Amino acid sequence: MKNRRKITLITACMMMAACSGEKAPLYKDASVPVEKRVEDLLSRMTLEEKVGQMNQFVGLEHIRKNEASLSEEDLRNNTANAFYPGFSADSVADWTRKGLVGSFLHVLTIEEANYLQSLAMQSRLAIPVIFGIDAIHGNANAPDNTVYPTNIGLAGTFDLDLAYRIARETAAEMRAMNMHWTFNPNVEVARDPRWGRVGETFGEDPYLVSKMGVQTVKGYQGDLSSDDVLACIKHFAGGSQPINGTNGSPTDLSERTIREVFFPPFEEGVKAGAMSLMTAHNELNGIPCHSNDWLMEDVLRGEWDFRGFVVSDWMDIEHIYDLHATAENLKEAFYQSIMAGMDMHMHGVYWNEYVCELVREGRIPESRIDESVRRILDIKFRLGLFEQPYADENTTMDVRLCDEHRNTALEAARKSVVLLKNDGLLPLSKDRYRRVLVTGINADDHNILGDWSADQKAENVITVLEGLKMVSPETDFVFVDQGWDPRNMSRAKVNRAASVARTCDLNIVVAGEYMYRGRWTERTSGEDTDRSDIDLVGLQNELIRKVAASGKPTILVLVSGRPLGTEWAAEHLPALINAWEPGMYGGQAIAEILYGKVNPSAKLAVTIPRSVGQTQMIYNHKPSQYFHPYAVTPSTPLYPFGYGLSYNTYEYSDLTIDKEEMTAEQTLKVSVKVKNTGKMAGDEIVQLYIRDCFSQVTRPVKELKDFARIPLAPGEEKTVEFTVTPDKLMFLDRHLDPIVEPGEFILMVGPSSADSDLLRKSFRVR
Ligand code: BGC
Repeated sequence: MKNRRKITLITACMMMAACSGEKAPLYKDASVPVEKRVEDLLSRMTLEEKVGQMNQFVGLEHIRKNEASLSEEDLRNNTANAFYPGFSADSVADWTRKGLVGSFLHVLTIEEANYLQSLAMQSRLAIPVIFGIDAIHGNANAPDNTVYPTNIGLAGTFDLDLAYRIARETAAEMRAMNMHWTFNPNVEVARDPRWGRVGETFGEDPYLVSKMGVQTVKGYQGDLSSDDVLACIKHFAGGSQPINGTNGSPTDLSERTIREVFFPPFEEGVKAGAMSLMTAHNELNGIPCHSNDWLMEDVLRGEWDFRGFVVSDWMDIEHIYDLHATAENLKEAFYQSIMAGMDMHMHGVYWNEYVCELVREGRIPESRIDESVRRILDIKFRLGLFEQPYADENTTMDVRLCDEHRNTALEAARKSVVLLKNDGLLPLSKDRYRRVLVTGINADDHNILGDWSADQKAENVITVLEGLKMVSPETDFVFVDQGWDPRNMSRAKVNRAASVARTCDLNIVVAGEYMYRGRWTERTSGEDTDRSDIDLVGLQNELIRKVAASGKPTILVLVSGRPLGTEWAAEHLPALINAWEPGMYGGQAIAEILYGKVNPSAKLAVTIPRSVGQTQMIYNHKPSQYFHPYAVTPSTPLYPFGYGLSYNTYEYSDLTIDKEEMTAEQTLKVSVKVKNTGKMAGDEIVQLYIRDCFSQVTRPVKELKDFARIPLAPGEEKTVEFTVTPDKLMFLDRHLDPIVEPGEFILMVGPSSADSDLLRKSFRVR
């Protein structure tokens, strides 16, 4: 209420100025083209104001919470908490009033966003701030928003329309709480299961990541106006293959690998119109990404013609000095980063002073600062922030968590849960299994929401236990709580589950990783939470084995943001499900799949290795990767990329191509028949792979080049058509120039990347 009065007052002041006969400056006139508004505003700004536009701060509540709960030493040692020594939340507010802050992040309520904006509107030129937030799977990082599955689950749906809709709905929920900029999509290609951030990526395949990324960018940005939010493709580049699996550790990649694997999703994102990009924590071949002019200037702006702005990641410009040590002090780090192409600093207090000094000393030309400020202002104008700096606190909840968005979250959860193994146990018969043990750390916990989620109200989350009770009310579910903490499980509770199992007809163990951000240091997966193995943590394996020793059928459901090597379970249990991080309706979706109300359809967007020793394990590896297989243990994955079962069987037949020989400019038409030979309606994800048989540089054994998600009624057969265009046959030659080489190609179509699943045809390029 207080805020609304404040807003009305501000609007009234603005109207009075307009009526007083003073001519409003050109930049305030919405009918003037954006470029002119930008130039007009820029011409009125002082150097301090310009440099302020390039700086970001965390929200006041975030600072206050840390100030109250952490000791000064904790704050100093834990950069993740954002702390500005000698600079309080009040100082940040004061700077905002003075027009020295361009953006905020980690503002979690509409009230705070409107309040901070009201401070910015009091500044000399009344330039609104842009609010950024990690809306990775819905605007889940703030309370009371729709929580969809994380990107790894979404990718497994292979449903591009769904990715687009989720991004659109997220944009609406964000604007409804005055947020304008999401730090998503993460379009890194995940190549190491130890890395805790696999869950926020679209998996290991550059083509799938690109497709999902593009739809997400388009969904967020629309036509980049007042209903839309700014997308941020991140992190540029290579951090998803860290040398030891830990977040931000060095990456050492050949230019070929960078260009073949890591760049395509970024380039496609830029083509799709992404107007912001975040650089990566890591150094790339010895140069920190945050001072890497090859990345930001040569490739991003030079080769791809990126027109948006680049934002740094958390404290990473500082790390050029205090971690990578390629700058001797902070000021030098700022200098290196700006001269390499950086536009906005996430986040902190020294930026304004040092960058102004660097300009005054003549080291950074003011024209370079103008370039960045132009890019930032351009976005603020386009998003309508000058006309609409506030969101309405009275109507915010009409949009957030509305029925349409909830339905999409449920649809996405249903489509993202992967059935990995089923020895005929599923779907469950209610008559046969009347008393069912439910146990495991993720059985009745909000951890199911996944990483990048704040606390959400209990009424907005369905845990697995709740889902089971909802879907099968006649079943007697006996819950044996194992607590949430995999590191500190109690053997007594494990034993209790084992003895209850003997009294039940069936056991459901919901295990996996712990991702909840509220317990940052207790997590086992997520950002900055990497592992040196991919086994289940704590007593979880013991729990599974002891429960299974009851002799009753045991189902393992995994909730996790990374692949887990559950080899024993895959061999010994009759059913295995990987639910990834399924979001607010995950529990319902899992229960519906267990009971056959929903036919599972998702496929794996990453390979699941058996053990960490198999890393790097990817389906699109080079031909020599397993020339000499591992001694003692298998060289095959536990489950391959693209794999996932349904309750149906689908029969693939009649793979045809319209020609066996073509020129490098022609296209190839492909068709295949897919028949639902089961009893349930279902969606099948048909995948097309290509191999270039002989080439001047080595090429992967296969690469995904197209896919289709098709609904099929029982008994129904459809002909699925694909077109292979020349770009799908292209690779980088010895000089890294794109080429389509004459010779033989093999085209493969089927339900997964496993050789045994694929039909083949060969064709030649003349
Ligand atoms: C992460 C980014 C994120 C930023 C802001 C960083 O630690 O690496 O992905 O956008 O924090 O929360």
